[in-house]
Amino acid sequence: MIDRFGRSITYLRLSVTELCNLRCRYCMPEEGVCKKEHSSMLTQEETLMAVRAAASLGIRKVRVTGGEPLVKPNIVSICKGISETEGIEELCLTTNGIRLPELGRDLKKAGVERLNISLDTLDAEKYRYITRNGDLQDAVKGIRAALDCGFEKIKINAVLIGGFNDDEIPELAGLTEKYPVDMRFIEMMPMMDRELFGEGAFIPYSTVLEKLPELEPVPSDGGVAKLYRLPGALGNIGLISPISAHFCAECNRLRLTADGKIRPCLHKCDEYPIKGLDYDGMREQFIAAINGKPQWHGELSYTARSSAGRSMNRIGG
Ligand code: GTP
Ligand code: 5AD
Ligand code: SF4
Repeated sequence: MIDRFGRSITYLRLSVTELCNLRCRYCMPEEGVCKKEHSSMLTQEETLMAVRAAASLGIRKVRVTGGEPLVKPNIVSICKGISETEGIEELCLTTNGIRLPELGRDLKKAGVERLNISLDTLDAEKYRYITRNGDLQDAVKGIRAALDCGFEKIKINAVLIGGFNDDEIPELAGLTEKYPVDMRFIEMMPMMDRELFGEGAFIPYSTVLEKLPELEPVPSDGGVAKLYRLPGALGNIGLISPISAHFCAECNRLRLTADGKIRPCLHKCDEYPIKGLDYDGMREQFIAAINGKPQWHGELSYTARSSAGRSMNRIGG
């Protein structure tokens, strides 16, 4: 479907759980989330019905997110159901990688084509700090497993945080010289109501260009990242700039939360509930959500916080 501003809505970000085995500081509160009644979350049947309804309206790409999607016990079966849905041409998943050594092969068999994996630092102490107790080696093993399973176009996501990982930009970018992966630097979005890392924590994407003058621009792959490459590298460098250069004019996405709310925009609190509806009811809510998609998310800066009204793990990034 085409929305009121001429954007063709073809991409659904599907959050399958709010839970996570890490607690990244920019994403989740330290205490995690209170486990909700199962009855308030979408069942597998409802999730797959929603994907069918969305596909009937022109959704062609689904990205499974969380929380951490791989902590969901039936994740492989959900992915298989999505990839078998008529109309869905591309199934991708965003993960912290921790459970990929166990699940990578099954996910591939279930039809997941591409993986984006979060990795903010190459320093074990810093990794433990930012994830509030994660083990860097687990994430590294996850990335290795993704490569071994033969996933193509693996993308590594690092959220840029001044005073934390801005000194590692060259080293992280260097991964694209050693491995066939894209490295993406993401401007931190101010989702929470309190200052997270103090002054100087927000790093605009232009800092990456300043630190890596040898970057050469390459054509876009249609995603939200501006793409570059280090000379001779195996993968691209992607710069994602939700704050300093928003991409609302080209936004082709809808989100569906694990508790069954369609969100037309990451940074707006408008939600269209589908829990408990039948196929036709869900389809109508998708139509309403596409028609209700705002032109842009409104003022957003490191001091003008998001109006999302949920932490990132409860939306799906
Ligand atoms: P591909 O283009 O399929 O590789 O994926 P992606 O970049 O859309 O997905 P990923 O889950 O890896 O997200 C990367 C970063 O982009 C995360 O920080 C997301 O929160 C952010 N992001 C994704 N979609 C949007 C969007 O519509 N608006 C904003 N502001 N940020 C987004
Ligand atoms: N700002 C930017 N990116 C974020 N992510 C989670 N929270 C934020 C935030 N506040 C990223 C994760 C993951 C992706 C889905 O979203 O690092 O790679
Ligand atoms: Fe978990 Fe991803 Fe949020 Fe980190 S960013 S706490 S890995 S959902």
